[in-house]
Order: sequence, then structure tokens, then C-alpha cells
Amino acid sequence: MERLIVTGGTPLRGSIAVSGAKNAILPIMAASLLSESRVVLEGVPFLKDVQTMKETLESLGAKIKLTGDTIEVNPSGLHSQEVPSSLARRMRASNLVMGPLLGRFGTFKASYPGGCTIGSRPMDLHIKGFEALGAKIDEDHGYIKAEAAKLKGTEIHLDFPSVGATENIMMAATLAEGTTIIRNAAREPEIVDLQNYLNKMGARIRGAGMDSIRIDGVKKLNREISYRVIPDRIETGTFMVAAAITRGELVIENAIPEHVEAVTAKLREAGVQVREEDDRIIVKGSPVWKGLDIRTMPFPGFPTDMQPQMMVFLCLAQGTSIITENIFENRYRHVGELRRMGGQIQLEGRSAIIKGVPRLTGTVVEATDLRAGAALVLGGLAAENTTVIEGVHHLDRGYGNLEERLRMLGAQIYRETNLS
Ligand code: EPZ
Repeated sequence: MERLIVTGGTPLRGSIAVSGAKNAILPIMAASLLSESRVVLEGVPFLKDVQTMKETLESLGAKIKLTGDTIEVNPSGLHSQEVPSSLARRMRASNLVMGPLLGRFGTFKASYPGGCTIGSRPMDLHIKGFEALGAKIDEDHGYIKAEAAKLKGTEIHLDFPSVGATENIMMAATLAEGTTIIRNAAREPEIVDLQNYLNKMGARIRGAGMDSIRIDGVKKLNREISYRVIPDRIETGTFMVAAAITRGELVIENAIPEHVEAVTAKLREAGVQVREEDDRIIVKGSPVWKGLDIRTMPFPGFPTDMQPQMMVFLCLAQGTSIITENIFENRYRHVGELRRMGGQIQLEGRSAIIKGVPRLTGTVVEATDLRAGAALVLGGLAAENTTVIEGVHHLDRGYGNLEERLRMLGAQIYRETNLS
């Protein structure tokens, strides 16, 4: 198993460019199945999850070429609408091919995506949307099967602004007959990016980023296009906290300030200097910072994907903080690991009460999911002596070449690949 070895205490300094957004490229790669023509995607991050989505599309018959940060998808040879369960279980986001397959071919079969460590991750809102569009859904032995002679536009009200359900319904409705309105839709920037990509391919969608999205069905998508995905706002936020927690100063390039406003507001409230420019953010850490109250909410509220990173930052604050995780029911797996480093954290239901301590101490810790792994790296960068982080494969799903990029900023971090 691979491990990261981090020696703390060095303030990070310099500039770092944010990669393309994982949670934009994954639905956009899936949406390529709706087209009958070749598409080229640019600004693609170097991530395990991109590799998994590539394999998922190839298993359906698409031809994919990945060179550097560019992906070429040729969906003309699609011959299957059944997602191999090994892939569906490896990454929940492989469920994003359901909407495009249903929209283009009127059918799909896929195993329930693996719930992951942060919660059960049901699919009821996706299924409700597909049924509203006219699909017949069967669920048995962990598989979901869908059949639809023709999808018909309709009005769908989401009980919860689910990101994946909004994306899947948008994609299924793109080629449906008539108009679909999604109410209480997720408003994340990645939804806007998906709308812009689909419209460039010839779809007719309006309203993404608001809580109602209108999709006017079209006959087909066959424009050969290229598209650059937006920067990753969670990677941006992670680097912002890295500057703050190491009391360093970072220039974060290729960032969109409006996409991380909630994180900026909270860091400023804690006493960190954050300067926003057109396409970059400069963060200057402060010697001490205050405790905060944070509640995770759907966008534009504070993002759940930044909750672990803020928790480790608040472990070193002056005073007590409260974090309430409102999106996932089990996103506190990193608490035990942070306690091992000296964090004083009490869990009460959905809330974590964090009592600031003067220092964290390096030890052996285990990443349990992608963002928990990021939090442990941040903890290691700030802790005294050395932290060994196991479970690095979780990190590689969402952060490309993280240790190399942090080393460029002065971090003492390297990857140990022991062959045992
Ligand atoms: C997306 O997951 C992101 N993943 C997640 O990022 C992110 O944490 C999440 O949105 C929330 O912002 C991708 O975009 C690939 P949801 P998704 O559907 O679509 C419940 C990361 O670290 N729900 O908005 O799965 C669900 O259980 C990952 O990059 C239902 O109840 O999130 C959860 O409690 C982690 N029924 C809540 O809604 C459904 O049918 C939010 O889920 C669907 C979801």
C-alpha cells in the first residue's frame, strides 16, 4: 500500500494552479454519450475517478483517447447500455451514465453504485425523475434496470437539491419529447458547466445555477465540439486552507472566486486574509485564528466537500467551533484520525464540537475517503514532527499529483510505495 510521509511546520509559499473540476468532468464525460459525434474535453484533471469514468464509457463501446489534460470521446460505436457492476461499485459517479443512456437509447442496466464511507447514498431522487419522464424502472438483486419507449418532458420537483439527480434528469430530458422543468434543482457550479456543455452540443437548457431548470427536448446532438471544464472549487478551497493552516501565503491561480465565496467568508471570519482577483485568489495565513460555527448546505451554502478540511483548520483555532454536517449522515470518519493527532473533537449527532488546541502531533493515520484524506494532509502540514498517511488511493481519486504540487510550495511531503 502507498503512504504519504509529511513533516509539518513549513509555511507554504508560492503560486499553484487549480486543476479542472472532478465533479464537472465526470458528468460531462457521461453526457458525451448523448452525442452522435466526437467531442474533445480540455482542462481534464489527472485523477483516478477520470480513469474509472473512461473505463465505464469504454465498457459501453465508446472510444476514448486521454492525452495529458485532453480527452477525446467518440460515442459513435456504443453497443451496450449495461454498466459492469465492478465499475459501478468502484465509483458512485458512474451512475451518471444512466441519464444519457436512458435519453439516447431508452434503456440502461446498472448495479447500485457502492455506498461509500460518507453515507448510504440512495438513488431514489434519480429514479423518481426517470419514472416521471416515462421510464419503467425495475430494481432487483442490487441492479437498476430502466426501459422507456419514448421519454416525455414533464415537471419534476426534487425533495432535496441532489447534485447527481439534477444532472441525471437534465441529461435524460435533453432528448425527450417536449419540455422538462426541474424544481428545487441543485445550484452547484458544476450543474452550470454541464448545461453549458450540453448547449454547446446542441441541447436547449436554461436556468442551471438557479433552483428551476428548463430543458426543451431536441431530436439529437451531433455537433463536433471541444469544451474546457471549470476549475475545481474544492481543490481551490483545499489550497486556501493549506495556506491558512501553515501560516503561509499562496497565490491560487485558475480559480473562480465566486465558486468559493462561502469558504472565503469563513476564512475571513476566522481572521485569515483572502484577496480575490479575476481568476486567482491570494491567501495569507495569520499567526492565530478564531473558532467558527459552520453548517454545510447545498450551494451556495458552505460545501460539505470542504467540511473535513475546515475541521482540521479549526482544531488549531483559538476557542471552540461547531460544525454541523447537513448533507451526509456519516461524514465524520476523519474525526477519529484527527483525535489521534491531538484534535479535541466531540460528536453529537450531526454536529462536531471542536475545542482549539495549540498544536497537532504527527502520527500514523488512515484516510477513509477523498476529502478526509485531504484533511489529514493539511493536518500533517501543520503538525509537529512527522505524519504517515495510509489509504492514499482515496486521495488519488480527487487530487492529481498532490504531493509534487505541495512540494513546489515548500511542503516536506513524499510518497512511500512499500512493496509489501
Ligand atoms: C455530488 O455527489 C458530489 N460528487 C459529491 O462530491 C458531493 O459531496 C455531493 O454532490 C454534495 O455536494 C460528484 O459530483 C461526482 P447528492 P452526489 O446527490 O450527487 C442524498 C467529492 O468528495 N440523496 O447531492 O452523490 C444523499 O444521500 C464527492 O467530490 C438522496 O437521498 O450528492 C446525500 O445525503 C463526495 N437520494 C445528499 O442527498 C438521491 O437520490 C446529497 O447527495 C440522491 C441523493
